[in-house]
Amino acid sequence: MSAPAEEPCWSGSSSLWLPFFLLQLVAFASSVCGAADAQVHVFYYMWYGSPEHDGGWKHWNHRVLPHWQQEVTDLYRHVGTNHTPPADIHAPFYPLLGPYSSRDANLLSQHMDWLVGIGADALVLSWHGIHGGADGEGVRTHRNLNHFVRALERKIEEWAARKRVPVGDFDPPLKVIFHMEPYRGRNITSVQYDMQFIVRTFNDTRWLYRDPITRLPWFYLYDSYHIKPALWQQVLCPEADGPGCVRGSDIDGVFMGLCLDGSSLIDAARAGFDGCYSYFASDGFTPASTTSRWPWFQQEACSQGRGMGTKRPFQFIPCVGPGYDDTKIRPWNKATTRQRKNGAYFAQMWDAAQLLQEEPPLDCKGQLPVAGLTSFNEWGEGSQIEPAVEREGYHTYPSDERPGRKGDPYFFLKASREYIDRWKGPGGEAARREWREEWDDGKGVRPPDQEL
Ligand SMILES: *[C@@H]1O[C@H](CO)[C@@H](O)[C@H](O)[C@H]1NC(C)=O
Ligand SMILES: *[C@@H]1O[C@H](CO)[C@@H](O)[C@H](O)[C@H]1NC(C)=O
Repeated sequence: MSAPAEEPCWSGSSSLWLPFFLLQLVAFASSVCGAADAQVHVFYYMWYGSPEHDGGWKHWNHRVLPHWQQEVTDLYRHVGTNHTPPADIHAPFYPLLGPYSSRDANLLSQHMDWLVGIGADALVLSWHGIHGGADGEGVRTHRNLNHFVRALERKIEEWAARKRVPVGDFDPPLKVIFHMEPYRGRNITSVQYDMQFIVRTFNDTRWLYRDPITRLPWFYLYDSYHIKPALWQQVLCPEADGPGCVRGSDIDGVFMGLCLDGSSLIDAARAGFDGCYSYFASDGFTPASTTSRWPWFQQEACSQGRGMGTKRPFQFIPCVGPGYDDTKIRPWNKATTRQRKNGAYFAQMWDAAQLLQEEPPLDCKGQLPVAGLTSFNEWGEGSQIEPAVEREGYHTYPSDERPGRKGDPYFFLKASREYIDRWKGPGGEAARREWREEWDDGKGVRPPDQEL
């Protein structure tokens, strides 16, 4: 690839009003100056299980969790009981594909088509390391990793065949970034070991997401602040080389920490991260996930100097979501709920992100615009964009306005596609046009003609 770009090549929607020939010029200019198109990374979960594939329900039957104060817990009589799929699941919406298994190859294949269709550059795969458990639900995501990888590789072969390109030469339209989740006993050594496993195992694949400019693999590190900056420094080495240092080694990468507030941003920069992400889909849940404060976070991030893995300014990654509601598993957590408001909430979050791209501060010169989307399928937190079906006792997506239909299962996929188009600008759209047509024809978002 090209050397790190010195010039920013924003391709924001502010140029959308240009006549067509000028649009072409804009697209041409951005390829000449070497910058990559704006990127979108979508958080993805592979912890679901069904009796058919997994010998029992996983996650859909989530336990109703207690509050940390007993007197609050006492107010909710379902605490401690489990949901009972398929009728009663742990989520406020009901999946179009039913309570599924993350080991179901056909299901994974459909998910990947949807993700390509909306224009996601990468799915961010929630993974709890080699030995960690996902949560109190007894799911070890590592046990599903092989299923996921096999389905992905089969999918890539299918895409390559459709394009009549030998699979070895085929650049997959969808890549994977590992979302390094916390687990009991996680420490700096075990995280490093986990990351080493990923790079050593998947380094030769073309689906491991690499930085468009430096070509290093990306990682998102959830709850990174649980490990002290001084310990991260031994691995991420912002200043000096040390024995455990990954920088410049064969397992170097781009590392994004979790940002809660201003001080965790500064800690992440000090620790040697390349940037940090806000993750939460609930606007206002943390300072970093408060859309009105995003311009401050962006400015503050870019003034922290350059990431060693990106060679670009330390990056704040705003994460947008369609809404949030985890009250089926945390009934006492209503204050965090964010209603979808017929899609208006999603629009507002995207608008706030878009503003960062269109009006970057001077310090952000040369930055690659990246947005996170929380989430593709975190059903238990009600932040999913995956198609949901109308069902009694569950919320419904807004209508596609065709007569006789109440909820459009594909509403949030379609909305995502629209906002991602805007985010990526004309260049990104052109690159994906060929995929879009196939997606519209076949596996597309259009609801099947028959009633669901
Ligand atoms: C880190 O975790 C690993 C595995 O969980 C454990 O074997 C090791 O002793 C821990 N190291 C420290 C310094 O706590
Ligand atoms: C991974 O591949 C890159 C080249 O793309 C190489 O420089 C690096 O050493 C490889 N790392 C491992 C762990 O094999």
